[in-house]
Amino acid sequence: MKNDTAFQMSASNIRFGQGITCEIGLDLVELGAKRTLLIMDPALSASVVEETVLSSLKSAHIDFQIFRKISIEPTDSSFQKAAAFASEGGFDSIVAVGGGSTIDTAKAANLYSTYPAEFLKYVNAPIGEGSPVPGPLKPLIAIPTTAGTGSETTGVAIFDFVQKKAKTGIAHRYLKPTLGIVDSDNTITQPPMVAASTGLDVLSHALESYTALPFDNRPKPASPLERPAYQGANPISDIWALRALQIVSRFLVRAVTDISDAEARGQMLLASTMAGIGFGNAGVHLPHGMSYPVAGRASEFVMRDYPPEKGLIPHGVSVILNTPAVVRFTASADPGRHLRAAQALGAKVTNIDLGESGEALAQRVIYFIKTLGLPRGLAAVGFTESDIPALVKGTLPQHRVTKLSPIPASKTVLTRLFQESMHIW
Ligand SMILES: NC(=O)c1ccc[n+]([C@@H]2O[C@H](COP(=O)([O-])OP(=O)(O)OC[C@H]3O[C@@H](n4cnc5c(N)ncnc54)[C@H](O)[C@@H]3O)[C@@H](O)[C@H]2O)c1
Repeated sequence: MKNDTAFQMSASNIRFGQGITCEIGLDLVELGAKRTLLIMDPALSASVVEETVLSSLKSAHIDFQIFRKISIEPTDSSFQKAAAFASEGGFDSIVAVGGGSTIDTAKAANLYSTYPAEFLKYVNAPIGEGSPVPGPLKPLIAIPTTAGTGSETTGVAIFDFVQKKAKTGIAHRYLKPTLGIVDSDNTITQPPMVAASTGLDVLSHALESYTALPFDNRPKPASPLERPAYQGANPISDIWALRALQIVSRFLVRAVTDISDAEARGQMLLASTMAGIGFGNAGVHLPHGMSYPVAGRASEFVMRDYPPEKGLIPHGVSVILNTPAVVRFTASADPGRHLRAAQALGAKVTNIDLGESGEALAQRVIYFIKTLGLPRGLAAVGFTESDIPALVKGTLPQHRVTKLSPIPASKTVLTRLFQESMHIW
């Protein structure tokens, strides 16, 4: 089979600036909206962002109804509840205000209320049927309140498939929000551990898209429409990813330790959007693929600043704990690239041999995990060696992302990577 010779940069429509959330009402008018479904993170009830959004909708005479019953780290059933609500209200548009959990819920609600189907129809194969979204959806405006997932830029909605004990998703360019309103006023209430976990997600998106399998090492599709959204590392995504890493290096620790640091908060939100545009076209690979069963099998672990009701390993934590082991493994695919990533993250690389690039990058990632006070490995979030076969089994079907590893990871390799990730230091 021939390799691909092309990549496609699919742009995201983003407005970035402090204090712009109040423009939402006029944006909806412009889109011809009359009745909007407002999907809100329940933690933002009675917050300044909620007040700003509601008053803007009222001034623009947009009729709306609020849905707050989202799940943090959404599940198949929480997606379906939101879809049922969206199907019944006669809505012509959707606004999502919250972190990735809220924005992803809004994408799923938009999809299933526009093109009703059995839930697994659009879910990524081989877990679901992987059918493409049949056509354009209702306008969706996303207002992120974490600096984070970059979900406002991507055509992806991730959920925990409870029965399979693993996360998976729905991915199609029609899921991409019509507009992302990215406003650093909206992250000021992020608690420190939310800022830390979501900030490490930004780091992971940028690092994984930069070190992913190059686009021209992937098989050529039969038609342009079959070219996947996640195409592998490519010269345009590289620019977004490297810049995001540099910003994370300068501002992540500041943004977590002092949430009133407006410059650091604004820069982390910018990095989150930039990394989102990068990985939305290049993709992520093993740390994300391995995170899905980790998050899906969270039992009793509760992270400070996150809802205590259910065992929950925050997304950014479940990804970053696998990262040091993965970059040691993938470095030989392109040592120079791994060293440049370490440098962008602030490591001093002048005396480092290319053969040491994986270790240099792993150490730089560990520096951030330690400095931000996150758990020191999978054992610290409740896993033991006996869980490893199930974690490997849950990673193997995550083809959408695992196929983008620059070196294919066999069952034996994944077992070793999970073993190494149990105790990072
Ligand atoms: N669609 C994508 O492209 C994409 C990419 C990465 C991750 N994800 C998914 O996104 C989800 C994680 O999203 P997230 O990391 O943004 O966090 P989140 O949406 O899960 O929110 C984390 C916590 O922070 C709270 N919160 C959010 N904003 C707040 C604010 N401004 N003030 C106070 N509290 C606030 C929430 O109530 C919650 O308790 C996961 O399900 C993950 O798999 C999606």
